[in-house]
Amino acid sequence: MIKESINFKEAGKFEETRFEKIHNVIFDSSQEASVLVAQEIANIIQRKEELNEPCVLGLATGSSPIKVYEELVRLHTEEGLSFANVVTFNLDEYYPMDKNNIQSYWYFMHQHLFDHVDILPQNVNIPDGNVNIEELQQYCIDYEMKIKAYGGLDFQLLGIGRTGHIGFNEPGSHVNSGTRSITLDHLTRQDAASSFLGIDNVPRKAITMGIGTVKNAKRIVLLGWGISKAEIIKDTIEGEISSRVPATYLQQHNNTTFVLDTEASSELTRVKTPWLVKSVIWTEELKLKAVAWLSELTKKPFLKLTDKDYNDNGMSSLLTEEGTAYDLNIKMFNKMQQTITGWPGGKPNADDTYRPERATPEKKRIIIFSPHPDDDVISMGGTFDRLVEQGHDVHIAYQTSGNIAVSNEEALKFAEISRALNKNSSESENIINFLKNKKANDIDSLEVRKLKGVIRRSESVAATRYLDVPDSNVNFLDLPFYETGTVKKNNLGEADIQIMCDIIERIKPHQIYAAGDLADPHGTHKVCLDSLFEALKRLKHKSFMDDCWVWLYRGAWHEWESYQIEMAVPMSPDQVLKKRHAIFYHQSQKDGVMFQGDDSREFWVRVEDRNRLTAEKYHALGLADYSAIEAFKRYFF
Ligand code: F6R
Repeated sequence: MIKESINFKEAGKFEETRFEKIHNVIFDSSQEASVLVAQEIANIIQRKEELNEPCVLGLATGSSPIKVYEELVRLHTEEGLSFANVVTFNLDEYYPMDKNNIQSYWYFMHQHLFDHVDILPQNVNIPDGNVNIEELQQYCIDYEMKIKAYGGLDFQLLGIGRTGHIGFNEPGSHVNSGTRSITLDHLTRQDAASSFLGIDNVPRKAITMGIGTVKNAKRIVLLGWGISKAEIIKDTIEGEISSRVPATYLQQHNNTTFVLDTEASSELTRVKTPWLVKSVIWTEELKLKAVAWLSELTKKPFLKLTDKDYNDNGMSSLLTEEGTAYDLNIKMFNKMQQTITGWPGGKPNADDTYRPERATPEKKRIIIFSPHPDDDVISMGGTFDRLVEQGHDVHIAYQTSGNIAVSNEEALKFAEISRALNKNSSESENIINFLKNKKANDIDSLEVRKLKGVIRRSESVAATRYLDVPDSNVNFLDLPFYETGTVKKNNLGEADIQIMCDIIERIKPHQIYAAGDLADPHGTHKVCLDSLFEALKRLKHKSFMDDCWVWLYRGAWHEWESYQIEMAVPMSPDQVLKKRHAIFYHQSQKDGVMFQGDDSREFWVRVEDRNRLTAEKYHALGLADYSAIEAFKRYFF
């Protein structure tokens, strides 16, 4: 049965600090948090039902609320929650936008919620992206008046954009703004680019409820998941109220809760630098985090930090525990120093007490899992090269086909080559016809998807051959969850996990490398990581797993913090070039890829910068000066 009342404070991690101006609760996972938010909504619906009143909900779209809607649907189908008394108002819609377009918020809401519950169609209100431009202003006034006529919103669910928008109230929005049309910020359009298959297809305008409309809600819950939201969450919760970050206006609302996962909360002062706000238990990881932070703040290497530096920056309790700055500095310096190794597979015949990897067995069996066919070389090309060079038995497993990231033009080129070589091929002819007549919203035919997958396979094999891996060690797993032909993927299924278990059981690896990106909790990398974690859980009891160590690398988007790094593999300038060439084999992903994210640089440029930056950070902490470093964190299962 649905729980009576939700106590977010008890369920998550909650401690108010003098820095924070909005009540917020942190959960280990967005899944766990979403279930509680759905329960709160269900409670309001039921309370209103008992009073025989309509329950007026303000709803959001985007990736953030998806799990809340999933749970509401479950509560409806499995626990009898009825939506018969529910009236909904959605925050926004692109403009212009046809409701049947798969990118419309109308489509999204029906796909995720309305088609699966017993809400009356006439009680669903979503701004109409097809309204005539001349009627738009009156339409918005009417939308606003309709909410008022229902007595206002009982509950408003929000996500937050990286611009600080709520709804589509972009920076500059007025605190008292009502429903209106708005021009979307460039960053917002960039963030939407992947679902529209390119920024050029993202509408420039939208209709949105105003800040005033949202603030009149009796209760507001804002969801924030993933590292990409961490900065804006901090600015919103700790910053001054300003139209530059419209979400800060929520500081004036007295019944708002921000529900966050660990990554989204990671920039909050109480999370990032807890020693500044309260007395802390100094774990080994926290000590290193604090000393690295202090070193960055004071721009001094570890070995030059003084007692005064520690005392002036809220870390005197650490000094008390450790004795003097001198002892602590040396201890932390050694700790970082011990992460550096040119022998990622372990150094043969060496004392490995303080090395990141074991010396034996000398030749290890290794699986490098790569979510897309290119993350292996982008994220760990240098380490990959060393592992092969040092004689380990390296197997690559590309988890997904990566087919949707191949452009139509690229696919057409190959289909035309295939037709030229193979004159009677009806398959090539079909593909060419399909691609030439493809409309913006069309999902690729199976043949086209197959061709796009083959293009990525050939590129991958070219790159692995360049790094001297035998073809027989290259595996394409084509995990089924990915094969929807669209940006939206299926949930992880039994078949995916079985494929992961099978390859681990077959190779019995001593080392596994995998992408540990948590940048986007709904992205492919996260699902691929979850598939590995689940496989590890299932195989854990097998004896060969006792010898298996797992190392997580991070993709093109985000690097480990220096205090998190447990293995740092330096690269020579020549190796940096070799890595660059390996990345170049992935030609379909060069020159303006389809899923660029918010960084317009090509992957090889981004990753070179990132590897150089990691090396610079090590150097700034007082360690040796390398050209580039690839970084890994061990995962214990
Ligand atoms: C959507 C909306 C937006 C999103 C925000 C975050 O209806 O109003 O404010 O909540 O852009 O989007 P996601 O959740 O996709 O990160």
